[in-house]
Order: sequence, then C-alpha cells, then structure tokens
Amino acid sequence: MIILGIETSCDETAAAVVTDEELPLENRVLGEVVLSQLEEHRAYGGVVPEVAARAHLQHVDHIVAQAMEKSGLQFKDLDAVAATGGPGLIGGVIVGVMTAKAIAAVHNLPFIAVNHLEGHALTVRLTHDVAFPYLLLLVSGGHCQFLAVEGVGKFKRLGTTIDDALGEAFDKTAKMLGLGYPGGPAVEETAKKGDPGRFKFPRPLQGRAGCDFSFSGLKAAVRRAIEQLPPGDIQENDIADICASFQAAAADALSNRLKNAIAMFKELYPEGSTLVVAGGVAANQYLRDRLEGAAQTHDLALVAPPLKLCTDNAAMIAWAGLEHHRLGKTDPLTFKPRPRWPLDPNAPKAVFAGAKA
Ligand code: KG4
Ligand code: ZN
Repeated sequence: MIILGIETSCDETAAAVVTDEELPLENRVLGEVVLSQLEEHRAYGGVVPEVAARAHLQHVDHIVAQAMEKSGLQFKDLDAVAATGGPGLIGGVIVGVMTAKAIAAVHNLPFIAVNHLEGHALTVRLTHDVAFPYLLLLVSGGHCQFLAVEGVGKFKRLGTTIDDALGEAFDKTAKMLGLGYPGGPAVEETAKKGDPGRFKFPRPLQGRAGCDFSFSGLKAAVRRAIEQLPPGDIQENDIADICASFQAAAADALSNRLKNAIAMFKELYPEGSTLVVAGGVAANQYLRDRLEGAAQTHDLALVAPPLKLCTDNAAMIAWAGLEHHRLGKTDPLTFKPRPRWPLDPNAPKAVFAGAKA
C-alpha cells in the first residue's frame, strides 16, 4: 500500500509518500519534504495563524510535487491520499484538507482525514513496528497527555495537563530569556552549559495521585527567577542555569507522573511492555534519557521516533492514513476540518488532581 500524506496544521507545510511494503523499515518513507515557516513567524515570537495559513496556501502544491518527485511515483501509483483533518490552526488545516480532497477527486483515490495526534501516536509503528497496546506520552506544543494506545483509532486517555503543555512552557521560557523561537531546541542547547541545581523550581503535582500534569507554576517560577536577577545585566551563565534548572524540573515532573501512568497502564494491560514518547518535545535528548531510565525501572522499553519524525512532518500523517486504509476506513469528501479533535472523546475533563497519593 502506498499513501501520500499532507500536514499543514501548525507552522510546517509537509508532504510525504509512505509504504508498508519496504524492508528495512527505514526505507518505508519513499519521499518526504518539510518546509518550516520559521522566518515568517520569527519576528512575532510565535506562530501567527493567518500568516501560517497564507504560507501553507502558497507552498503546499510545490511541496506535494517535490515529495512525489522524490518518491519517483505518480498520483496513479497511490492507494489513497491522507491529510491532517485536525486538531490545529483551522486555516492551515483547511488548506491541507482541500489539497488532499482535490488530488483524491481528480485521480479517483480514497481520501483519509487523519487526526494529527494519532499521526504522532502511530509513528513508532512506521519506524519500529511497535505492537499494540502501548503506553504513550504525547508531549508537544499544544498537548501533554498519557494515553493507552489500544489500536488504530482506539485510545484511552489516562492523564493530561490541567493548564499548559510542556512544549508551551519550553517556548515561553525561551521567549522570557530572549532565546527566540522555536524555544524547545534553544532551551535544550543552552541547558547543556548550565547548572541544573542552581534554581529550585517546583515539581508540579509531585506525589499526587493519577498522572495529570501542570506546568503553569513552573513557568511562573521561571519568570520570578528572571525578575530577581539584576535588571539589564543578565549573564550568559544565568540564562544557561535557568534553562538547565527548568529542564531538570520538567524531567522530574514527567518521571514522577510516569510512575503513576505505568501503574495505571499495567493494571489495564498486564501484557504491555512498551513506553512510547512522541510529539515535538520528544526530540529533547535530555528528557528522553531521563524517561528511558524511569521506564527501565518499571520493566518497560522506551521507544521514540527518530528526531526528525518527532516534530511535525507528513510521514506520520501518511502512515496513520495507511493504517486506517488497511482497515478499510476512509472518509467522504464532505469531511469538515476540525479545530478540536480529542483522541479519546470519552476522557473526563482534567481537574485538579485531588489528594496526595
Ligand atoms: O509536535 P510539534 O512539532 O507541534 C505540535 O503539534 O505542537 O511540537 C512543537 C513543540 C514546540 O513547543 C517546541 O518548542 C517543542 O515541540 N520542541 C522541543 C524540542 N524540539 C521541539 N521541546 C524541547 N526540546 C526540544 N529539543
Ligand atoms: Zn505535532
């Protein structure tokens, strides 16, 4: 099976052609292009939805053409066309969905609307053939959740953030320190030169029951630490120490929540043996190493996609589309883009996570 995938839900315009026929697994991506709109948004210190939508519109056709050319295939060789149908910035999602529908209509191919989060969630099946069920930590700019992945389209949310996503906390920290956008990679790089013990930042929800997250207190603590430094005279080592201390606090918070998530997962699926970490923040090597240690303590193997498939890309969208198509699931051309699209629609709303465990 060969699928074209299109991703336009945030600030990457991406297209990829993916198959399940090639071995070794790294040969499954037949052609892939990711265009980051970094320059368009840098001046604003974050993604501006209208600017993003216009840039997607400008670039999507030639990005699709490039991915097809790299694959050496033509539209008639495809089995289906998939696009991110949500959640995300709606202007961009509309551009990708319209493009995929047009290709599907012209070449008489099935269309598949992919949940962007499912794209992140299933990437490890493209790269590592991970079997269901697995425990997933999905950490990106907009989401921070633990999910039991039971199958294609089948997710049980075990915990989520009650305020900010971790990627957002990375981005805000970078912005406050003048490290620019996107923040995650800049904070990780700067933290390498810093002292993680200098600032005593909070470990939110430490010791509480369940596996929900909270990162707004950590973000506020970073702001207070910056305000307490001599105004106009912040040194490079101060910035590095804040980054290192922030990252260490984030890793402690994740590890602590992970312990409870593993217990909840094992109760549901005693046979489950894999922890998967996915989403943009999973590109962070320090966090990966810390999570690997925590997973091993509880007899789970950590699997993470290669770095370039952690952040937004279209190979993950094509792959999720492929998994749907293999099960005979396609979508009508009347599909409406969805700004919100939870993976587990039955999950209860996250509330403050109750008493100490
Ligand atoms: O999955 P993604 O590309 O887009 C969303 O769907 O949100 O995730 C983007 C997020 C941003 O907040 C970015 O700062 C963060 O992932 N990120 C990182 C790193 N690389 C990207 N955070 C920490 N360390 C990194 N190396
Ligand atoms: Zn994403």
